[in-house]
Amino acid sequence: MQIKFLKKYRKATDTLIVPVLGDQEPAIPDAGDGLADHLASVFKRQKSFKGKHGQSFAVTLPDGFDLTQVVFCGLGARDDLTFGKVEEAAGKVFPVLKGVKADHVSVVIPEDFLKQLGDFPASELAAHFAAGFKMRSYQFDAYKSKKTGKDAKKADEESDNAANGASTIQNLDLILDNHAEADKHFKDLDAGISGVFWARDLVNEPPNALYPESYAQKIKDELKPLGVDIEILDEKKMQKLGMGAILAVGMGSDRPPRMVIMRWNGAKKSKTMPLALVGKGVTFDTGGISLKPGAGMDEMKMDMGGSAAVVGTMKALALRKAKANVIGIVGLAENMPSARSYRPGDILTSYSGKTIEVLNTDAEGRLVLADCLTYVQEIAKPDTIIDLATLTGAMMVALGHEYCGAFVTHDDLWAGMENAAKTRSEKIWRMPLDEVWKKDVESNVADIQNLGKMGRYGGACTAAGFLQHFINDDKTRWAHMDIAGTAWVKTDKALGPKYGTGYGVRLLDQFVKTGYENA
Ligand code: BES
Ligand code: MN
Ligand code: ZN
Repeated sequence: MQIKFLKKYRKATDTLIVPVLGDQEPAIPDAGDGLADHLASVFKRQKSFKGKHGQSFAVTLPDGFDLTQVVFCGLGARDDLTFGKVEEAAGKVFPVLKGVKADHVSVVIPEDFLKQLGDFPASELAAHFAAGFKMRSYQFDAYKSKKTGKDAKKADEESDNAANGASTIQNLDLILDNHAEADKHFKDLDAGISGVFWARDLVNEPPNALYPESYAQKIKDELKPLGVDIEILDEKKMQKLGMGAILAVGMGSDRPPRMVIMRWNGAKKSKTMPLALVGKGVTFDTGGISLKPGAGMDEMKMDMGGSAAVVGTMKALALRKAKANVIGIVGLAENMPSARSYRPGDILTSYSGKTIEVLNTDAEGRLVLADCLTYVQEIAKPDTIIDLATLTGAMMVALGHEYCGAFVTHDDLWAGMENAAKTRSEKIWRMPLDEVWKKDVESNVADIQNLGKMGRYGGACTAAGFLQHFINDDKTRWAHMDIAGTAWVKTDKALGPKYGTGYGVRLLDQFVKTGYENA
């Protein structure tokens, strides 16, 4: 799908999208062909469409018009309008257009609509509309022998269901006076979307194709050409360094673990890395010797969602040449049961030197993260660390699939994250950090243990308490994002189809933009 920002709509357009604010008259451009009059009369006769957020209303035009159809797209009340709302409205109209087999779509923002908008910036509205639409258009068809995507039209002609309900949309034009500014704004958002799409692809990849070694190589192949510096630690290097925690998690698998360090040096004048992003990359989590039940185990290929968010963000930063220095680090391992697996009862020596008693091999994510956290503090001395992990089922029980839970040490860090989340349509909710949970993971026989003593209750909080043992300095701003519920969804959402969501990329991209690029 090609996206363009133009002054006038092109003749090839078959479908017009008219954005409508809640309880406002639609602003329809008059091309001198009676379209405005026709639509005004149709619009008057219908009673259901009121421009509510996410509402749409499609009108098929009679012979004589160049256009085939016009779709009214509700943005909701002007007072409630945010960039996020615009994106979600655009995302929700995408399946409607799929249904009417649109090919060349134009969104019009005429003078009259600008008046209704008041001080809401039209160029940014157009950019976010395009972004929401594109986010929703994502498809994962790498393993379909009949391709959808760009061959969708052909496939659609061949058979009714061959295209899997794929979109036929080839062009999306956004028509407004301030098109150059909208285009500039969209380019930045689009870098983030490329990061999201890559993260979604990685999460959707099956675990026989994506395992630590192949994943590390993929990261290098993708990011190195974009100017990101890549370093890969293999199992031998990690053994030498004494990374006993991540190594134990990967021990049961024939596919040894990897750690990948990525450096984006966009603030050319400085070499320091003030911000570190850390991701859990368990390419498949069987639970190990503490084996998970069989039902739904296939979904545990998503247990590398945290790492996908980190590498996706690095891609976004590189694509838009962000003027900031960011270090990313991901711990990649496959958690398998075998004769070589680590066991409940084992005591590991982590890279930090702290010893860890393993009480459950299924609480493996915190072990992987522990060594990543220690290592990144040693090599980069960041003042801010954000880790992302599909860490606990308990997080999903607490917040479901809509909100990620974030455990954050400093209020100013939280404020920045919350702001970034709002600007880019990713929901986040603050969770508590407390000494209680640090104490809860103290062990009788080792320094700490990988389970809390309170059983299942507060499982997301104990996991955060465990990780906090690996933050060396109270002055370090640290946030732990448990994305167990948000990295993977089982129903379509406004901004993407089911399965891998790429959650975190847009939030982090925005966080860097507002927090690290003003200097
Ligand atoms: N990867 C899982 C957490 C998870 C569960 C993510 C469901 C997404 C959906 C993690 O490694 C895990 O198994 N956690 C255990 C921890 C427990 C043993 C303390 C859990 O949540 O049950
Ligand atoms: Mn697990
Ligand atoms: Zn896991």
